[in-house]
Amino acid sequence: MGIMGMIDMVTMVFSLMVLMFSSSAVKYDYLQFTQQYQPAACNSNPTPCNDPTDKLFTVHGLWPSKVKGPDPHDCKTKTNKSQTIDILLKPQLEIIWPNVFNRADNESFWETQWEKHGTCGSPTIKDKNHYFETVIRMYITEKQNVSHYLSKANINPDGIARTRKDIEIAIRNSTNDKEPKLKCHKKNGITELVEVTLCSNYFGKQFINCPNKIPEKSRYFCPIKDIRY
Ligand SMILES: *[C@@H]1O[C@H](CO)[C@@H](O)[C@H](O)[C@H]1NC(C)=O
Ligand SMILES: *[C@@H]1O[C@H](CO)[C@@H](O)[C@H](O)[C@H]1NC(C)=O
Ligand SMILES: *[C@@H]1O[C@H](CO)[C@@H](O)[C@H](O)[C@H]1NC(C)=O
Ligand SMILES: *[C@@H]1O[C@H](CO)[C@@H](O)[C@H](O)[C@H]1NC(C)=O
Repeated sequence: MGIMGMIDMVTMVFSLMVLMFSSSAVKYDYLQFTQQYQPAACNSNPTPCNDPTDKLFTVHGLWPSKVKGPDPHDCKTKTNKSQTIDILLKPQLEIIWPNVFNRADNESFWETQWEKHGTCGSPTIKDKNHYFETVIRMYITEKQNVSHYLSKANINPDGIARTRKDIEIAIRNSTNDKEPKLKCHKKNGITELVEVTLCSNYFGKQFINCPNKIPEKSRYFCPIKDIRY
């Protein structure tokens, strides 16, 4: 083996080691940005909502997720446990991320989403306030607003029965033709669109096809037609 061969070999072994070390530290593969349609979220909840809803898709959470295997949750972070939510972020969070089940307490919704999901987003999510800043950037700055995506395709919340295809096409049109994940709920014979999840890559910089769709036999599967929104 010549000197160049040796160098190649060393480089290869070294890259392999880096890969092995880094993959063992990797907690997630991609990000799910899940938004809930407020009236349907309330209808699908065992306990009804106290407060009136807006006909809007608002944030449920940003979830670092795995392509295979269970999604990580409640990860340990170096962040100071008692770090408080930056007061300057709250007005925007209240608009995009209300606790639809209990509007008197939006903050506990944000806190539980951070604890359960946000803590697993390192290094893309740097700390607690960065988690909230990232969601604000995605929803407001980058307009990753599902209501907006649907209305651009003339799908407005009129309670009309839609096909899954129409909904998917509308979303794909705003996400570089990537497939979203849809969640429906059936009650008294009526199927409603409850959640739409937009998936993006590890760094949250690019949409991807959602790797894990809701299985057909799940109660949350969206049928091909008669989806109310
Ligand atoms: C954590 O943050 C709280 C409130 O911001 C502060 O009082 C405390 O000293 C911090 N603890 C550490 C270990 O940084
Ligand atoms: C929670 O957010 C909603 C906006 O959706 C707002 O009307 C409400 O006042 C907020 N609750 C609190 C306690 O700040
Ligand atoms: C999201 O889109 C809807 C529909 O276009 C719009 O009414 C709403 O104000 C938007 N929300 C934000 C925070 O931009
Ligand atoms: C897709 O988006 C383009 C503009 O970006 C628009 O002209 C077209 O009508 C949209 N089509 C659908 C089905 O939403």
